[in-house]
Amino acid sequence: MRYSTLTDRLQGLGGAKWEIHALARDMKRAGRAVIELTIGEPDVPCPPGLIEAATAAMQAGRTGYCNGHVEPATLAAIAQRYSARRGRTLGPENVITLPGTQTALFAVLCTLAGPGDEVIVADPMYATYDGLIAATGATAVPVAMRPEQGFRLQAADVAERITPRTRVLFLNTPHNPTGAVLRADEIAALGALALAHDLWIVSDEVYEDLVFDGIAFASPLDLSDLADRTVVTGSISKSHAAPGFRSGWCVGPAEFCARMLPLSETMLFGSQPFIADMTALAVTQGSPVARGMAGRFATRADRIHARLHGQSGLRVHRPEAGMFALLDIRASGLSGIAFAHALLERTGVATMPGESFGSGLPGWLRLSLTQPDGVMETACDRIAAFAAKTMGDPE
Ligand SMILES: Cc1ncc(COP(=O)(O)O)c(C=O)c1O
Repeated sequence: MRYSTLTDRLQGLGGAKWEIHALARDMKRAGRAVIELTIGEPDVPCPPGLIEAATAAMQAGRTGYCNGHVEPATLAAIAQRYSARRGRTLGPENVITLPGTQTALFAVLCTLAGPGDEVIVADPMYATYDGLIAATGATAVPVAMRPEQGFRLQAADVAERITPRTRVLFLNTPHNPTGAVLRADEIAALGALALAHDLWIVSDEVYEDLVFDGIAFASPLDLSDLADRTVVTGSISKSHAAPGFRSGWCVGPAEFCARMLPLSETMLFGSQPFIADMTALAVTQGSPVARGMAGRFATRADRIHARLHGQSGLRVHRPEAGMFALLDIRASGLSGIAFAHALLERTGVATMPGESFGSGLPGWLRLSLTQPDGVMETACDRIAAFAAKTMGDPE
């Protein structure tokens, strides 16, 4: 049978990246004690107040269709949150809600790019980004980020890759998998390129609320001269420990939102009113769990650094935000995939190979920081012992 070229473009871009995670789950089902440091689930349950709000809304009959442009109160709440943080007045016409950042990014990129266009994206990148760009028919143009620059995207590197076909500069700050947070001056330099070459800026800010103490979050949405070319995406998945609700949004120029609305309506025919109500409450009240998570993840990253950095040639890259730390295992001579497979089989510690995140992290592992402290310590002990055996420096 024949299938669409869109599905052709997405072949091979899905499950293979999560192979170790799937394997770890199989091993767990078979009764093996596996420590999962693979995916980034919040380490606390969704706050009870939000579950009560969603339940109350369902019981109050908020289970019918909503209008396509979604619930006005929710749009207003999200617009208000961004206005308060960014010092610019945004209104409901600047917001569209979608099921999670992932869906929002899909719709945003489909609105801005298509066949023949190029999308510049930092490499390493979140595992779904190449699929998101490929789905539009545009070509991804990866720009390498380097550990010695804190894995922060540099305007000079981006400038070299801009062509007349470039349409979008796709940012992610705080960044997954590196935990890097772009500085205000770096964003200004990237913004100057967008202005000079008439590019859109898409900024995935799903980890905005998980920035560690001492690091300042900055967004292109803060800069008024970028306002008519910037679209930001976010959700309550990480900030409110509520990924299962699939509640996210994009914020951008009114003209952009009007242009994207038919696409969002075609995909979804509106959202779920009880989730929209709960989301309005979540963004209005702020998160009761985000600061706690950020504090715990920062401490765990410090402990991993203290325990593993320098051991048997291992190096740890400390994140500035988010749920992950990076482990450089290049001294082993193994690929991240080979190391992660062997580590899982021999020690029961499941990690994500750097090769799952674009082409910029061969020979690295991503470790999620979401397991309890004691479990993280056991995982570190096992990694250290495994590295000592594999890399020839017995502990
Ligand atoms: C960088 C990044 N963007 C988007 C997502 C998807 O988030 P959501 O649950 O809001 O769809 C994730 C999830 O891990 C992520 O790490």
